[in-house]
This record gives sequence, C-alpha cells and structure tokens, in this order.
Amino acid sequence: MTLQPFHLNARLEEELARLHAAGLTRRRRVLDSASAPRVRVEGRDLLAFASNDYLGLAAHPELVEALAAGAREYGAGAGASHLVNGHLRPHEALEARLAALTGFPAALTFSSGYLANLAVTPTLAAGREDAIFADRLNHASLIDAAQLSRARHHRYPHGDLVTLEKQLAASTAQTRVIVTDAVFSMDGDLAPLPELFTLAERFDAWLVVDDAHGFGVLGKNGAGSLAHCGLPAHPRIVLMGTLGKAAGVGGAFVAGSECVIDYLVNKARSYIFTTAQPPALASALLKSVELIEAGAERRAHLQDLIRQLRAGVAGLPWRLLASETAIQPLLVGENVAALALSRRLWEHGLWVAAIRPPTVPQGTARLRISLSAAHTKADVARLVDALHAAARQEN
Ligand SMILES: Cc1ncc(COP(=O)(O)O)c(C=O)c1O
Repeated sequence: MTLQPFHLNARLEEELARLHAAGLTRRRRVLDSASAPRVRVEGRDLLAFASNDYLGLAAHPELVEALAAGAREYGAGAGASHLVNGHLRPHEALEARLAALTGFPAALTFSSGYLANLAVTPTLAAGREDAIFADRLNHASLIDAAQLSRARHHRYPHGDLVTLEKQLAASTAQTRVIVTDAVFSMDGDLAPLPELFTLAERFDAWLVVDDAHGFGVLGKNGAGSLAHCGLPAHPRIVLMGTLGKAAGVGGAFVAGSECVIDYLVNKARSYIFTTAQPPALASALLKSVELIEAGAERRAHLQDLIRQLRAGVAGLPWRLLASETAIQPLLVGENVAALALSRRLWEHGLWVAAIRPPTVPQGTARLRISLSAAHTKADVARLVDALHAAARQEN
C-alpha cells in the first residue's frame, strides 16, 4: 500500500504556532520523585509550590502501605464498572466513611473529579425545560458538565448574587440547579455558600457544590467548605469532593441524600459506563480519611504558612488575590510576564506554576502558589525571599 501525503496536520501545526506566539503553549515536566515539597525534575532538585497535595499526604508512608495491602488483597484492578462486578468491599467501605465525614446519608465514589462533575449536573438537569445557573469562574469540568446537558445554561459573574437572583426569578424552568466551586481553583476564594443556599431554598433549586479544594482542608475534621460555612447536609445540596488533592490519592466522591445517590447510580452515564477505580486506591483512601479526620495539626500549620506568605509578600510589585485558603494566586497580568517570573523562580530552585488563559481570564495570568502542610516555615521564607529578589531584578 502506498501512503498518501497527509495534510490534516497542517491545521494543527498552525494552531500550535498561534498558541506559541501568544505565550500559551503548554508542556509537561517529568518528576523523578514522589509528589512532595522537594521534587527531582529534569535533573534538578526543586522546592515545589505547585501541587494540590494540601495536607502532604500524597507520599505518606501509611497511605503507601494501605495501597500495597489493598492491592495484595483485592488485586490491581476492579475489573469492571460498579454496576457489573467492579464494586468491591473497599469501595463500599470508603463510601460509608465519606458519607459519615461529610454528614450526608450516602456517597458514591468516582475515578476522578472530572467524571463526578459530569455525573451530577447533567443528570439533575437533563432536559430542555431545565436550567443551570453557574458561577463564571467555575472549574472547566463543571462547564463541560453543563454543556453535556440540554438544559439552559445561565452564567453569572463571579460571586454576583444579585445577578443570580434575577436569573432565578426570571426562570420558568422545571428544575433549577445552582452550581459552584466552593473554593475557586485558580483564585482560592470561597463561594458565598450560605447565601447560595438561601437562594436555592427561595427558588426551589438544587445546590451543587464542588469542594475539590476545600475537602480535607476546611471545616471541622476536614469535612470541607460546607462545614466551614456552618451549612447542614441538606437534601437539596449535592456535594462533590475530589480525592486526589488534600486526600493525596486520586478519584472523587459525590455525597447527598439516599435518593440523589440512588438516582445517580441509575442514571449518571459517567458513573455507569466506566470501569471502577482500582480497589487498592479505595483502601489507601480509607487510611487517608482517617488521617484527614485526625489532621487538625496539619490544618493549623497550613493556616500558619498562609499567614506567613501573605505577610511576606507586602511591597512586591505583584499582589496576592484575596484568599484564605492554600491556593494563593499572585496576579502578574501578561502571559509572558507570568512565565518569566515562574522561570526566574525556577532558576532559584523553586517551582511555582504560571497559570494563563484559557484557564484564567485574559490579562490575569498569575503564579498559582499552592501551600501544603508538608512545607516548613523555612520553605515559605525561601519563596518570599526569591520573590523579592525577582522583583529587584525587574527594576
Ligand atoms: C474545582 C475542581 N473541580 C474538579 C476538578 C477535577 O478533579 P480531578 O482532578 O479529580 O478530575 C478539579 C481539579 O482538577 C478542580 O479544581
């Protein structure tokens, strides 16, 4: 067979060249060590402020041991989807532990937060006569979830309760679903959850809360943002939490009423039509939930580091966005300038990711400084010193 010349690549190459010219090309760096504050990358030892391992559990020996023990007992893979024969004892036990920690009657585990979000919103608001109301800065997976649904998709400006109220009041939808990140992933701020709940009550809407960055970090026993804000595990709230960030492993869960969870088991396509997470991950996560519940000291240390960083950056030409969480974004502005600052820190042996559009709005490129309970005060002091040195180099 003779091969014909292939022209389709030309379009891809053009688009890649456009991204490159705009400072928007992405590349992956390979780590030769576990995810931890100290990592080995491309032959260099770096101090990283880039992961979502907020409690420092990703490489915790007790999790590693639980993972190995789980694999010895239950094998490497689940073998099938949950509804066929892939729902093993560790999955079931993990769901019960997560429900107990978050205070909801039931929970369901997923292989990733992306899949969990794809399960919830399009299943609750499936038809053209339904409506979704979403914060404009919601995570990409929530936006994609809304696009999977036939429902009308209203987006309100970030945290703008007045616009949301108007949109809800004008809606004649049969089912209304308000969807929000609890802690915004690139900004670190908290959604006004009590006010959103009040609007949900007033307009008889579901409230779907994505607590990817609050679970394990905020609230009593690390139960998350709802607990932090004093909100009850009400039947109109559906909570999503991820298990690859503070929980240190991978996967996600949805917690809610028995009815909601049963409905998702029966109707949510991204739950039904995918292989269950390997059971050993659930074994590791059972240990992780134990460490989260007993993690008050880790959370207090993390709060100390947040205060130290915020005090230390005073006087820099870039400002930290208002955030009380482990996500501390340093606003730079232009893509190229954010990349240059990230590169300068890299030269000082520090890894802080530059975040650019389309992940964040145009003109708001930033360094996403992410703190972990595994960092020391000396680590944060080193970052602060390097930022001041970079600012002096600018002048
Ligand atoms: C707010 C938010 N929701 C959902 C996700 C997706 O979770 P996962 O990485 O488990 O797919 C992420 C992060 O990746 C996130 O930041």
